[in-house]
Amino acid sequence: MSDFTGVSLKGKTAIVTGSSRGIGAGIALQLAKRGANVVVNYVSEGSKDRAQEIVDQITKIGTKAILCQASVMKLDEIPRLIEAALKISETGKIEILIHNAALGLEANLVDTSLELYTTHFDCNVRGPIFLTKEALPHLPRGGRIVFISSAAARLGVAGHTVYGPTKAANEALVRVWAKELGHSHGITVNCVNPGPVATDQWFQSDPQFIKDMEPMINETPAAPRVGEVDDIAPLVAFLCSDDARWTTGSCLSANGGLYN
Ligand SMILES: NC(=O)c1ccc[n+]([C@@H]2O[C@H](COP(=O)([O-])OP(=O)(O)OC[C@H]3O[C@@H](n4cnc5c(N)ncnc54)[C@H](OP(=O)(O)O)[C@@H]3O)[C@@H](O)[C@H]2O)c1
Repeated sequence: MSDFTGVSLKGKTAIVTGSSRGIGAGIALQLAKRGANVVVNYVSEGSKDRAQEIVDQITKIGTKAILCQASVMKLDEIPRLIEAALKISETGKIEILIHNAALGLEANLVDTSLELYTTHFDCNVRGPIFLTKEALPHLPRGGRIVFISSAAARLGVAGHTVYGPTKAANEALVRVWAKELGHSHGITVNCVNPGPVATDQWFQSDPQFIKDMEPMINETPAAPRVGEVDDIAPLVAFLCSDDARWTTGSCLSANGGLYN
């Protein structure tokens, strides 16, 4: 019988990609509240102060945090994330890897450019693959990998010609790596699938897209509202805990019951 100490992440070190704001920032703070040291990652110079604020908040909570500017789209910048994590690690290992950073511009098929395709696949799919490859030698048995997927992977929303497939690829990677990294490395690999969440990504969507989504949001079984970061982040933290050791290759819905 669990005594609930399993949900503690004390002494573990986590990389959370795209943690300057939105869901990633919420995850970084949730992991820290449970005792983890966290690499706070951002890419745009304009987000440096916001990322530093997350670092400061984590330090106040009482764990270690380090700022790391690196684009997961750039293979030569990925090692920076590993180096930053090893600087704050108490164990010499990186116990938790959260693939949160993603691009999510809407475009119908007829408006899809090669640039949109390449940037989105490089950020959302190639980035996590090569970051995981680079991190793997540092992940101990009991390590955790969590992807943040999206409604786009499942709902078939118009305008997600590229974003949707990148998120479906994330969910496929979870199932593949649960098998590849289970017996061999003792690592669990899962994903959390949020519905619409009130972050910059959501508010920067085409107003028509937000309007089209309104009826569906009003029908959300848990409550007639858009999701909040704190609806998502605690589930991610749980998957990183020892109590989640028997869950791998799974996709947990954090969407108020909109879909499975
Ligand atoms: N919001 C939603 O409605 C929603 C719904 C379902 C799923 N999701 C998923 O949840 C995750 C987070 O979304 P969000 O809404 O929180 O996004 P957001 O508010 O737009 O924040 C995106 C974060 O990713 C970072 N980022 C972007 N490109 C990057 C790169 N190449 N390398 C490293 N970091 C990069 C950004 O850094 P900068 O600050 O430096 O730009 C920022 O920290 C994504 O995987 C998204 O697909 C979101």
